[in-house]
Amino acid sequence: MFPLKQKHSFAVDVNAKQVIEIDSIGALQSLVWKNDTYILGEGTNTIFTEDFNGQLIINRLSGIEIKESETGWHVYAAAGENWHKLVVKLIGLGIYGSENLALIPGSVGAAPVQNIGAYGVEVATFIDRVEVYDCKLHVQTTLSHEECEFAYRDSIFKRPAHWHWFITGVHFFFPKAWQAVLGYPDLASLASDATAEQIMSHVIKIRQQKLPDPARVPNAGSFFKNPVIPQADCQRLQADFPGIPVFLQANGECKLAAAWLIDKAGLKSLSVGGAAVHERQALVLVNRNNASGADILSLAEHIQTNVRERYGVELEPEVRLLNDYGLIYS
Ligand code: EPU
Repeated sequence: MFPLKQKHSFAVDVNAKQVIEIDSIGALQSLVWKNDTYILGEGTNTIFTEDFNGQLIINRLSGIEIKESETGWHVYAAAGENWHKLVVKLIGLGIYGSENLALIPGSVGAAPVQNIGAYGVEVATFIDRVEVYDCKLHVQTTLSHEECEFAYRDSIFKRPAHWHWFITGVHFFFPKAWQAVLGYPDLASLASDATAEQIMSHVIKIRQQKLPDPARVPNAGSFFKNPVIPQADCQRLQADFPGIPVFLQANGECKLAAAWLIDKAGLKSLSVGGAAVHERQALVLVNRNNASGADILSLAEHIQTNVRERYGVELEPEVRLLNDYGLIYS
């Protein structure tokens, strides 16, 4: 049995039957894919709720290559590289674009899966193509930006039909024609001519103030996605709950702030066993004191039920929850 407490940032004290660390494509070639195989990066968006009886494979591929062209920089990063270290390296080299995405925990390979995003920027903007290794057919393929089907915290890599795709690396393109993205309320205090370095420092500061450091208070970032609902439902909510934050989407739908819904429902002080709602960011659940998987699932369900009854809105998990066999999908 392999302890998983140090392998995922929610730090539930459970074990895995088998763990294989992949540090070369060669190691993938001898892998036998099973229905209970799960691919893990740094484990910052995955929560093991019980002992995992399947085969866990961990992405440890490393390497970064940067090529300059007339219009921008082509950056290739192997999937096992740390995302934040890549951001710091790029900004240090004068390659701008990812500054709003600083300090997001996790690996480069996990970035396209979730289409990580923060402060008005999503990583998909800079992804040119993604290299994958098909663990069933044992072939390598490349997916173009379009083929990745990026959407809000979503991509083709999340579909069950593609869980056997092991992301080996990501090709990014950062144009030289850089423009700061400063529209998010948390960045309002920055000057309109803020540099990428200043934006990165500011983002790091806000994240350190608002979000708990997983190394000290185990957590997996936002536990739920921000719900996107039809405009008619949104108008009903605006009438019933004046001041509710609403972000109009390009397709006319409305994105709500799940943190606000949870907070204003009075759920910020809620805890079940060792699992609790974080006191500064209601969208983040934390492992305050040796939480069990059952504590986490019960706390999440309690929040979902409350939010459904109060606002008529469904909260969907943003984290990936695993039981003894694999991903739990409700
Ligand atoms: N709010 C509350 N109570 C709280 C926290 C926030 O009422 O306890 C309100 C805020 O005042 C604001 C709104 O809720 O009006 C949104 O809050 P915030 O700007 O902190 O962002 P968020 O929507 O909760 C999203 C991402 C974060 C990302 C931030 C910043 C998702 C699921 N979460 O959170 O991403 O860092 O925006 O861009 O989209 C993650 O995915 O793990 C993550 C942390």
